[in-house]
Amino acid sequence: MNATITTLPGDGIGPEVVAQGVAALQKVAQVYGHSFTLKTALLGGCAIDATGIALPQDTIDACTTSDAVLLGAVGGPKWDNPSAKVRPEQGLLGIRKALGLYANLRPVTIHPKLIPASPLRPDLLVGVDMVVVRELTGGIYFGDKKREAHASGEVAIDTCIYTTGEIERIVRASALIARGRKKKLVSVDKANVLETSRLWRSVTTRVMKEEFADIALEHMLVDACAMHLIRRPADFDVIVTENMFGDILTDEASQLAGSMGMLPSASLGADGTGPTRMGLYEPIHGSAPDIAGKGVANPMATMLSIALLLRHSLHLEHEAQAVERAVYATLEAGIVTGDVAPKGSTAHSTGEVGAAVVSRITRA
Ligand code: IPM
Ligand code: MG
Repeated sequence: MNATITTLPGDGIGPEVVAQGVAALQKVAQVYGHSFTLKTALLGGCAIDATGIALPQDTIDACTTSDAVLLGAVGGPKWDNPSAKVRPEQGLLGIRKALGLYANLRPVTIHPKLIPASPLRPDLLVGVDMVVVRELTGGIYFGDKKREAHASGEVAIDTCIYTTGEIERIVRASALIARGRKKKLVSVDKANVLETSRLWRSVTTRVMKEEFADIALEHMLVDACAMHLIRRPADFDVIVTENMFGDILTDEASQLAGSMGMLPSASLGADGTGPTRMGLYEPIHGSAPDIAGKGVANPMATMLSIALLLRHSLHLEHEAQAVERAVYATLEAGIVTGDVAPKGSTAHSTGEVGAAVVSRITRA
């Protein structure tokens, strides 16, 4: 197939891990006879440096005319001034919104080799295999924000908004995923306190009852979910939740996978009808400025994000599995970066791990 993929390497370790993702894509193209046209565009701090804004129009245009987008990470101390008007994160939030990518899939599994790398007790990790579906374009991230000067001091306001339509579509997206798995959906909210959560809970209950009666639905408060995720992680299958709860819970859940450097993500929009489905794929780890430029970042989350890109945007399931097999075979060979290397063993560089994965991408 022919496909156009735009890469947004971004800041920090973003360019290092994206280079390995691109190498995996090129190997897939070669092994399976596809033609992938790669473009690259600016997002985040590097875009601020070059153009003054975090999300230039050229970047939006490059993404909207592509079949999929591969993103590294944005942000870093250079742009961290809290009173700055332009911030790298505006680029990330802006591109999610501009592309209508409301469903963020964050699969969490643990490879047996990585059990020692997790801070959790090994017996708790057996059978961990879940997908967190995070609502990505609503909630407190996107509501009005302001500062007001009051006589008693400055006041800051963040508004959290959810509409019925926004909740319905994310619930449907997660229920469809649950239907292809164990038919168990946990919806996470804070309905004992927040009005948006009470709407979330009633809409979820209705949609599930009317359209997905075959799927078991459980509501869970977010604080309890944070606890159960580390107390009995193997009980979860699909979790659906609003934007900020999903952000927080997936950093927690990353520890179930051994390292943040292992977790890929897919951000998907509405249109799944054509031959391709627009999506943005990124590792969840962020720009990690402390290790940027050192060649020690784990490229596996990005390479697993390439697998998700092949699966969800290009509908190339065999190719997606070939990349996943290559990542797992590399883990089994013990070729890993320092974040997951067992104590006392040699840590490999980003480039060495990337090359080891690429060399293992073959037809089944
Ligand atoms: C994530 C990140 C972003 C988010 C930041 C960088 C804005 O933490 O993708 O999880 O909060 O969505
Ligand atoms: Mg986050």
